[in-house]
Amino acid sequence: MNVKNIIDKLFKEHDATDEELLYLLDNITFTEQEYLSEKADIIRRENYDNKVYMRGLIEFTNFCKRDCAYCGIRRSNKNADRYRLTFDQIIECVDLGDKLGYKTYVLQGGEDDYFTDEKMIEIIKEIKRRHPKNAITLSLGERSYESYKKMYEAGADRYLLRHETASKELYESLHPGASFEERRECLKNLKEIGYQAGAGFMVGLPNQTNSDLVKDLRFVKTFKPAMCGIGPFIPQKDTPLGNEKGGTLQKTVIMLALVRLLLPDVLLPATTALGSIDPLGREKGIKAGGNVVMPNLSPTDVRDKYALYDGKICTGDEAAECRMCIEGRMRRFGYEVEVGRGDNINWSKEK
Ligand code: 5AD
Ligand code: FES
Repeated sequence: MNVKNIIDKLFKEHDATDEELLYLLDNITFTEQEYLSEKADIIRRENYDNKVYMRGLIEFTNFCKRDCAYCGIRRSNKNADRYRLTFDQIIECVDLGDKLGYKTYVLQGGEDDYFTDEKMIEIIKEIKRRHPKNAITLSLGERSYESYKKMYEAGADRYLLRHETASKELYESLHPGASFEERRECLKNLKEIGYQAGAGFMVGLPNQTNSDLVKDLRFVKTFKPAMCGIGPFIPQKDTPLGNEKGGTLQKTVIMLALVRLLLPDVLLPATTALGSIDPLGREKGIKAGGNVVMPNLSPTDVRDKYALYDGKICTGDEAAECRMCIEGRMRRFGYEVEVGRGDNINWSKEK
């Protein structure tokens, strides 16, 4: 086996065996990493040209009933300063986002029972009433089939639910009381209902091996999500994993490029977490096949409270500053931000 041949095979066939993927992860050199990123960039350009889609991220609640070992807003973190945006605050964020050119809003929050289906439906309908052409992405964790369906029928277009890790053992060690199968079921339900579903995982979790990462690649190749969110694990000091090592830029970028080669049309964000571990992390993610950025649109006074991990960027910047900043960053690397809904190109859903 030879890493370059495996990259060439991925470039041509958009698949490789698990053994080849593992060999690549175990042996890839710096020069081969550059080659991998170049190949991924070619595939991304064939599908999305040099366009980078923007999503305005609204972090609307940091209350969470779950207790994920890595996450700063886990329920046992007594140091988390909890907040919920009001209906009006959410709508204000959306209106501001629309003015700034964001035609997709990602409503992200912890698993917060305060936001019942009724409340979510009210929010979704009001956003769609004001901005009928814009897209709504939800990221609220695990809910019932009926709940997902009602929110979809109210007008939500997409749903992000990272699978977090495709290793059952690792998943269960990080998520006390949660079930690996139920999360998979949620993802299946979202797709079946008609959402553009987003899966995704963290890179560099404590005890995560290259074989585990091959499982992540195989899962995304098989599940074919419309979107895939990949970021490095970053320790948060008030969590059980606060003293562990975080994931690296290099490894995360390799995973992004591999996912682009496996799923040529996937919407692939260069995440805030990637930008937080390296000043040019997001740019490097885009160069390796990424085609989405999600600048923050939350009100500045709550930004630092949505602290999933330490050292998060953009916590002090106004939405308008992030908007301009992102555009400049992308331009300097030869990409253009695209002002539009930015659907997956193979998604033909009329709503
Ligand atoms: N480091 C990196 N990513 C994290 N997330 C949560 N906590 C952390 C952390 N400590 C990610 C999870 C989740 C997404 C919203 O943020 O993958 O799905
Ligand atoms: Fe927020 Fe650059 S994207 S300051």
